Amino acid sequence: MMQLSDSYGRVATDLRVSLTDRCNLRCNYCMPAEGLDWLPDESVLSDDEVVRLVDIATRLLGVESVRFTGGEPLVRRGLVGIVQATAALAHRPEMSMTTNALGLARSADALAAAGLDRINASLDTIRAETFAEITRRDRLHDVLEGLRAAKAAGLGPVKVNAVLLRGVNDDQSPELLRWALAEGYHLRFIEQMPLDAQHAWNREAMITADEIQTRLEKEFTLSPAVEPRGSAPAELFTVDGGPGTVGIIASVTRPFCGDCNRVRLTADGQVRNCLFARSESDLRAPLRAGASDEEIAERWVTAMSSKRPGHGIDDPSFLQPTRPMSAIGG
Ligand code: GTP
Ligand code: 5AD
Ligand code: SF4
Repeated sequence: MMQLSDSYGRVATDLRVSLTDRCNLRCNYCMPAEGLDWLPDESVLSDDEVVRLVDIATRLLGVESVRFTGGEPLVRRGLVGIVQATAALAHRPEMSMTTNALGLARSADALAAAGLDRINASLDTIRAETFAEITRRDRLHDVLEGLRAAKAAGLGPVKVNAVLLRGVNDDQSPELLRWALAEGYHLRFIEQMPLDAQHAWNREAMITADEIQTRLEKEFTLSPAVEPRGSAPAELFTVDGGPGTVGIIASVTRPFCGDCNRVRLTADGQVRNCLFARSESDLRAPLRAGASDEEIAERWVTAMSSKRPGHGIDDPSFLQPTRPMSAIGG
């Protein structure tokens, strides 16, 4: 069987599929208040096109897990159908979704019934005012309802991703952790990466993994969890002797690129071999021109060969990718 290997010996078995570049929140570390120039409808893959590419990835290329992302995947109309069709593939992948959970209360049961295994949700605060300040929408209540619905629907273990922003929510990490432990969500704190549409990221403003750990250790006892980490981005700690845990995703200060097992597909059908790739490989054109599954698979294999060893954020020559996180898929 073909596989998605790169020239550094890494093999991508985890596919992240962006279903739309649109979002119903406007997190200020991600996009401007007015939103972005969204992809035109005709360049976005249809539901059938998405499922065909996932079929090729799982059946011919060794992909084992698929994560649906956005933008916000819940704003994609055909989401439940895409999940259902993916669950019916010859090589059914483990299937997860990264979402802001807004409105998830309405679709959690349908998604679980369609075959979605679990979700990761983005939530940076449990204070309504801070939520409105960061996301520019007063929707904390709906997000919390979405999370509860996901847990009740069995879409777990539910993970919660929090980005800490200096002077905005960085003093809220202990209360977020206490809340997550009480609710049974697996909280992970994430170092902010230079992927914002505004190109406003700056290294000094970023809350580092060390800072996060130091702040939490003032109120909790953290011990490194013994589980092997593999290709997972989060370093896990047990909290106060367990069973609760907290994760820290130190993408910038302790990159995990050497163990990377990811490949991405954008909503408009471009393969990105890295979040920070400088170029993409188009699968949409061949797909629409009638290419066979094998031809598409070969293009996908070729797309991996230029994967660079790491994100290079600390290199003097680092260039932020032209697509923002919202259009790449988080
Ligand atoms: P699981 O561990 O399988 O639950 O998923 P995940 O943590 O990989 O997925 P999720 O979408 O929740 O991503 C969480 C965070 O990990 C993102 O916000 C990013 O900060 C980081 N991340 C995800 N994928 C990558 C990647 O390919 N490279 C880097 N550097 N960071 C990533
Ligand atoms: N750096 C790190 N994580 C980010 N996210 C959005 N923008 C960034 C960034 N610049 C997070 C979201 C979500 C996940 C998909 O990515 O909060 O949890
Ligand atoms: Fe993989 Fe690129 Fe993410 Fe590093 S930055 S973990 S190489 S996708």
